[in-house]
Order: sequence, then structure tokens, then C-alpha cells
Amino acid sequence: MIRKVCVIGWPVAHSRSPLIHNHWIAEHRIPDARYELLAVKPEDAAETIRHLHRLDFVGANVTVPHKETAFATLTRHDAVAKRLKAVNTIVTLEDGTLEGRNTDGYGFIANLKDGAPDWRPGEGPAVMLGAGGAARAIAAALETEGVPEIRIVNRTPARAEALIRDLGLKSATVWPTAETRAALDGAGLLVNTTTLGMKGESDVDIDISALPRDAIVTDIVYTPLETGLLKRARLAGHETVDGLGMLLHQAVPGFEAWFGVRPHVTDELREIVLADLGMA
Ligand code: ATR
Repeated sequence: MIRKVCVIGWPVAHSRSPLIHNHWIAEHRIPDARYELLAVKPEDAAETIRHLHRLDFVGANVTVPHKETAFATLTRHDAVAKRLKAVNTIVTLEDGTLEGRNTDGYGFIANLKDGAPDWRPGEGPAVMLGAGGAARAIAAALETEGVPEIRIVNRTPARAEALIRDLGLKSATVWPTAETRAALDGAGLLVNTTTLGMKGESDVDIDISALPRDAIVTDIVYTPLETGLLKRARLAGHETVDGLGMLLHQAVPGFEAWFGVRPHVTDELREIVLADLGMA
């Protein structure tokens, strides 16, 4: 029997998940396994998720804009998905039911630890730019890692307040963009979770001179690999971590659950994805 897994999104053609998972399927010689793209319109998402087995899929990844629909459609979730009310990975449990999980925060932390092994979560506040879906996963993961304080800087402060309330974050604060300098004071980590800096968009334009020199700067944008923010941070002497590894690492737990082998994020995989993005 072929074990098929798919990524569900709309649009989904740009997803690099098939490239990543099919690379691991080949690398680990998983017999009769296949990972496919499945373009699913918003109005069809719940139905598709409910009938994954009937469509011959043993699992799936879920991407924008279906992560919340996947959460609402499934009846079983792991603790992280429950907290975020968003699902990016669906696995079939032993009793045949589908469970929704969320590995985005795991991917963020694994990439950060990979790129900045000396990062100590407990050593200082983290400043997070943005309060969207990615920010939710990252804020929850940072708190779980033991970051003592999360300072959220967002254009729309009400959205940051909603994030804190929905996640029940214990030591998070909201800072208007005009007070970014004060938010950066004494921080150990700066992370951009907004889409600013992506090719074709304007750059994050905050002044980072108030950030302590030993603070690490990371971005979830990976096209380009070195965003304007990361470049300025590097030139100012900060250790920087690009966002591509988050995409690669978030895929690891799903692959392990579906196929029983824990894959590795290697330089080779990174090069393959970069080449596919036209950035090698
Ligand atoms: P995702 O779910 O992928 O994180 P999102 O929900 O659209 O994406 O969130 C995008 C984030 O980028 C938000 O924090 C957004 O700020 P607002 O909450 O004020 O909308 C931020 N963002 C996007 N474009 C921006 C811009 N031009 N200037 C400042 N912030 C921006």
C-alpha cells in the first residue's frame, strides 16, 4: 500500500514541503511513500480534512489559509495545537483517528538553536515584531523555552493584546512601534515575524542601536535569506539566524510521525531548497 501524505493550502503551488519530504523519503528509502501538493479552496478545506483517509492520505501538512479550519475540523489535538487553535500537521493515530498538531514553534526554536547554539532563553527578554499567526506560534514556543519576558512590537497594538490574551501569556507586554527603542533595551533576542523584508516588500525599518551587542537577531522571512534587518544586525555585530531553517525543522516531527524515521536537516537539504528558490 502506498503511504501518501499531502500539503493542503490555497494557493499551495509555492510550497516547498513536497521537495523537503520527498528528499527525506528518497534519503531514507521509505518504500511506497509519496508526498503531494493538494490545492484546496477555503470552502472545501473542512470536507477535505475530514475525508483525508478516503482520499488515501495517512497524514497532511496544512498551510495558509487552512490552519484554523484544520483545528476546528479535527476533534483531537496535541497540546500546542490546542493552545494555538491552529494545526499545521495531521497524523493518523494507532486507533485510526486524525490528530492535529502544530510544529511551527518547534521549527522556530530548533532553527534558532541550530544557528545560535549559545542562545540562552533565560538570559533576557525577547522582542518580537508582529502579532500574526506566525507570531502566535513563536511567542508560545519562546515562553515554553523559558524566555522570561516577551515584548511584542506591532503596528496594531490591539492585535498584540489579543495574542497575549488568547495564549494566556504570563509575562508579555505590548509596545507601539514608536517605542521600539525602549523595547530593545536589555533584550537577548530580536525576532521579526512580519512579512516585512520579503522580496518585493519594504524592509523592517526600526532602529536597532539600542539592542545589546550580544543579542541574537532572527527573521522568519527567508526570501531573501539575508533580509535588510539581518544585514543591518550583522553589520552592527549581532549574531544572526536566517529563517529558512524554520521551514526545514518544522517538517521533522511530521515526517517522523508518518514514516517512523526522524529525518535530519542537513546542509544538503538546505542547498536543494535554496536552488529550488533560485537562490543557490
Ligand atoms: P502571518 O499569519 O503569516 O504571521 P499575518 O497574520 O498577516 O501573517 O500577520 C502579519 C504581521 O505583519 C502582522 O503583525 C502585521 O501587523 P498588523 O497586525 O498591524 O497588521 C505585520 N505587518 C504586515 N505588513 C506590515 C507593514 N507594512 N508595516 C508594519 N507591520 C506590518
